[in-house]
Amino acid sequence: MCLLYQGKIILSAVIIIHAFQYEELVQYVDSHQEEYVEALRDWVAIESDSSDVLKRPDLHRMMEMTAQKLRLMGGSVELVDIGEQELPDGQTLALPKVVTAQFGNDPNKSTVCIYGHVDVQPAKIEDGWATEPYNLTEIDGNLYGRGASDNKAPVLAWIHAVEAYQALSVELPVNVKFIIEGMEETGSNGLDAMILAQRDTFFSDVDYIIISDCGWLSRRPALTYGTRGNCYFFAEVEGPKQDLHSGVYGGTVIEPMTDLIGILDTLISPSGKILIPGIREAVAPLSDEEWKMYQDIEFDIENYKSKIGVSQLMYSNKVDLLAHRWRYPTVSIHGIEGAFSAPGSKTVIPAKVTAKFSIRQVPNMDPAMVKKQVTDYLHSVFAKRKSPNKLKVTMIIGAKPWLADTQHPLYEAGKVAVKRVFDVDPDLIREGGTIPIARTFQDVTEKSIIMLPIGGFDDGLHSQNEKMSRYNYIEGTKLFIAYLHQVSQIKKTQV
Ligand SMILES: *[C@@H]1O[C@H](CO)[C@@H](O)[C@H](O)[C@H]1NC(C)=O
Ligand SMILES: *[C@@H]1O[C@H](CO)[C@@H](O)[C@H](O)[C@H]1NC(C)=O
Ligand SMILES: [Zn+2]
Repeated sequence: MCLLYQGKIILSAVIIIHAFQYEELVQYVDSHQEEYVEALRDWVAIESDSSDVLKRPDLHRMMEMTAQKLRLMGGSVELVDIGEQELPDGQTLALPKVVTAQFGNDPNKSTVCIYGHVDVQPAKIEDGWATEPYNLTEIDGNLYGRGASDNKAPVLAWIHAVEAYQALSVELPVNVKFIIEGMEETGSNGLDAMILAQRDTFFSDVDYIIISDCGWLSRRPALTYGTRGNCYFFAEVEGPKQDLHSGVYGGTVIEPMTDLIGILDTLISPSGKILIPGIREAVAPLSDEEWKMYQDIEFDIENYKSKIGVSQLMYSNKVDLLAHRWRYPTVSIHGIEGAFSAPGSKTVIPAKVTAKFSIRQVPNMDPAMVKKQVTDYLHSVFAKRKSPNKLKVTMIIGAKPWLADTQHPLYEAGKVAVKRVFDVDPDLIREGGTIPIARTFQDVTEKSIIMLPIGGFDDGLHSQNEKMSRYNYIEGTKLFIAYLHQVSQIKKTQV
C-alpha cells in the first residue's frame, strides 16, 4: 500500500467535494430564480421614494420588510433609529431606520459587511415610462421597475446568496453583516453619524466592506476601484438694490449677470482645460500601467455617443475619454439663480445672480485647497473687471474622492470570483460620480472596501425605464456566492 498514493487520493477528494458544493449552490440559484424575481417584484412594488415626504410611510414599510426577510433567515437583526430630518418648512420627519443584520460570528472567520440601500428615485408613468414603474415587468429578459437595479436587486442578490448557503446547509465561509439604509438617494441623511456611533460596536469585527451600488461599463463584468469627489460652489454677484428695466437703465449700470458670465467663462477652456491655477498640478499623473489598463477596457464610444445624443465628444480616443470621465477633474456649470428664466422676452436686468458650478475631484486634490484656489482665482479675475458689484464665493459641498488598490486581496478575490462565474476577467473601472458613503466607511472604520457591481451598463439608473436584466440578477447572485468563498481564502494576516 503506497501512503503517498493514498494521500493524493484524499487530497483530490477534498477538492472534488469543494467544487461540488459550488455547483450545488449554482444549481440551487438556477432552480430558484422565479422566487428571486417574485421577491424583487414585491420590493419594487413598494414606492420607497426617499425624496417624497408623502411616501415616507412606504419607506418605513420597506425597511421593515427588509428587516423581516433577514429575520426569517435567522439573522440577528436590528432596526437602528437614526433620528429625524428637518424639512424646509421647519417641520421634522422621522428618518427611515437603518437595518443591520448579522449571520455568523465565528472569530476564526473573516467578517464582511455588505452595504446597500432600498430607497429609490422618484418615478411616475407620465415621466415617459413604457411600463408602470412600481409594477415589475419583464420584457425580453429585462426586469423593468424603479429601483430594480439601483439598488433593490443587488441587495436581494446578496440576501439570496446567504440564503442559498443556508438552504443547502453549506457553512458560510465568512461571517456576513448587512447595513441597509433608506436615504441614499437624498444624501444618506443620518448615516454618517450612525456609522461613527457604531464604529466600536457593529463595525469592530468587520474586516471588509462590500458595496454593490453601481454598474458595469459594458457587457463585461467589472470591479470598481474609484469614484470622483465633488466640490460644489455658489458664486453670487450683487449690484443694484433691485431689478432694473434694460430700456430705462441699460447702458448706464454695470450688470451683475455680465460680470458673472464673464468670470464663469474663465473656469474652463473650450477644449476642457481647467484654468484655475493649481488644480491640474494637484492631479495624480496617469501611470503607464493605468494607461495600459484603460487600453484593455471594453468600451463602445459610438454607443456612448448615441446614448447621450451627441455627434462629438471632448476626446476621440478611448483612453482619454475614460481617463477624463474617471481620473481627471472637470468643471460643470449647473445653473444661475436669480436669472430671468421663464419663457418669453422680459427685458429685466437682474440685480443679484448666483451661479452654481461644481468640480469633480480626484486624487490628489484636497477640497480645502480647491476651495481656496477657486475663491482666490474668481476674486482675481473679477478684480480685473473693475466692477463696483460685489462677488461672494462659497463652497457648499466638499466630498472627497475614493480610490482602492486593485492589487488588494479583496480585488484579487473579485477577479477569481468573476472568472469562475463568467469565465472572463473583469474590467477594472472607476465611477465618474461620487459615492460619499465609500469615503465615510474608509475614513471612519479604516476597513478595506470593494465595489462589486452587478448592474448592467444600460440599466437607466435614476431615469425612465430603469431595469435589471434577469441574467445580471441571477448570475450576480452566483457571483456573490463565489465571492464569499473567495474572500474566505484571504488570510487574515494578509491585510
Ligand atoms: C478557532 O480556531 C482555533 C485553532 O484552530 C480552535 O482551537 C478554536 O476552537 C476555533 N474557534 C472556533 C469558535 O471555532
Ligand atoms: C402589473 O402589470 C400586470 C401586467 O400588465 C397586470 O396584470 C397587473 O395587474 C399589474 N399589477 C398591479 C399591482 O398593478
Ligand atoms: Zn444607488
